[in-house]
Amino acid sequence: MRKPAKKKAAKSRPRNAFYAQSGGVTAVINASAAGVIDGARAHRRHIGKVYAGRDGIVGGLTEDLIDVSAESPATIRGLRYTPSGAFGSARFKLKGLEQNRAEYERLIEVFRAHDIGYFFYNGGNDSMDTALKVSQIGEALGYPITCVGVPKTVDNDLPLTDCCPGFGSVAKYIAVSTREAALDVASMARTSTKVFVLEVMGRHAGWIAAAGGLAGEKAGDPPQIILFPEIAFDETAFLAKVKQSVDANGYCVIVVSEGVKKPDGKFLAEAGGKDAFGHAQLGGVGPVIAQLVKDKLGYKYHWAVADYLQRAARHIASKTDVEQAYAVGRSAVDYAVKGMNAVMPAIIRKSSKPYRWKIEPVLLAQVANVEKKVPRDFITADGFGITAACRRYLAPLIAGEDYPPFKDGLPAYVRIKGKPVKRKLATDYKL
Ligand code: F6P
Repeated sequence: MRKPAKKKAAKSRPRNAFYAQSGGVTAVINASAAGVIDGARAHRRHIGKVYAGRDGIVGGLTEDLIDVSAESPATIRGLRYTPSGAFGSARFKLKGLEQNRAEYERLIEVFRAHDIGYFFYNGGNDSMDTALKVSQIGEALGYPITCVGVPKTVDNDLPLTDCCPGFGSVAKYIAVSTREAALDVASMARTSTKVFVLEVMGRHAGWIAAAGGLAGEKAGDPPQIILFPEIAFDETAFLAKVKQSVDANGYCVIVVSEGVKKPDGKFLAEAGGKDAFGHAQLGGVGPVIAQLVKDKLGYKYHWAVADYLQRAARHIASKTDVEQAYAVGRSAVDYAVKGMNAVMPAIIRKSSKPYRWKIEPVLLAQVANVEKKVPRDFITADGFGITAACRRYLAPLIAGEDYPPFKDGLPAYVRIKGKPVKRKLATDYKL
């Protein structure tokens, strides 16, 4: 990697930090928030207050900031155990600098009003692009702002980092659920359900679907079929494989990625199909696959769409994932106070067995808008399973448990008070 440019660290006086959550949330994004907040506290000489954007970058644009210092220490500790985006997240993509310079200028105006010198953006590909652009416009407008991306995405599709915080926990949930549901269908298969379909997230990359493969240990174990977005759906081969599995085992378990496409490149659930709720959108391929099996082979089926359950499932989070999520938050602050701008802490695998990793900075410019897909050699030759290499990659990412505290039989999650920071700007901002 090219060495990230180091700016002179702001020695004189502490400046405030802005932290925002972005895109689809995860079971561990708040652990990254805790890492950033703890990191800021450890660097009081450089960082004054931490302000969080209410609903991510939208809070930044509308000057709707949350004063994190008003939260109790117990709440900050509890973030490590709490799924979702505690400060609110946003699917809001800032356009290109040329297309909407005013948006960036507004953000800088808000930063200037609140003496924000550090911007920590916790998100995926798009967010890394935004953080990069903010660092550029800050320079252009003569407003010094250090921008550091904090990686997050259940889709696991960021480049240069070995994995993305959020993914390990979804992977664990999907592997666990596949194993459990497979036992269920195996019990019923003789007289009832023969096919179980689990639909998982991952719009363009099949990492989460691949994780379903961890449920099986040896050839023939469920899931017998995984459908990846990286492999064009071949209906004939698929149905033959379902029949073969039912003939051999009495049942068939299928993990299907929401992003599976037909050979013409169209999403399967989009190709004339509707999801269970009548919407022609992604997130309905599970029932489409199940119905196809019923129509062509006549087997009784059940299907489930893991949907938000998979990325909110903090109760069965991966310990490795929680630790990495926290670590990237902490490292982001360490980089920022060293004056490293437009970088992102990446997880670097040192070895798989035993699993060892470290954090290193990579340039946002090399991460922004690049999608890392499942490589072909991680998928078996028939396109329906994972290889030993894939298993070696995935296994350590789901390792370990990190249960939240429980109270009255339920996880004791925290909610922030969300005390607003007093507005300083006279103008409102229309999104
Ligand atoms: O952030 C990634 C992701 O979880 C995808 O896997 C999924 O397709 C998408 O978000 C869902 O987004 P939303 O919650 O905005 O509908």
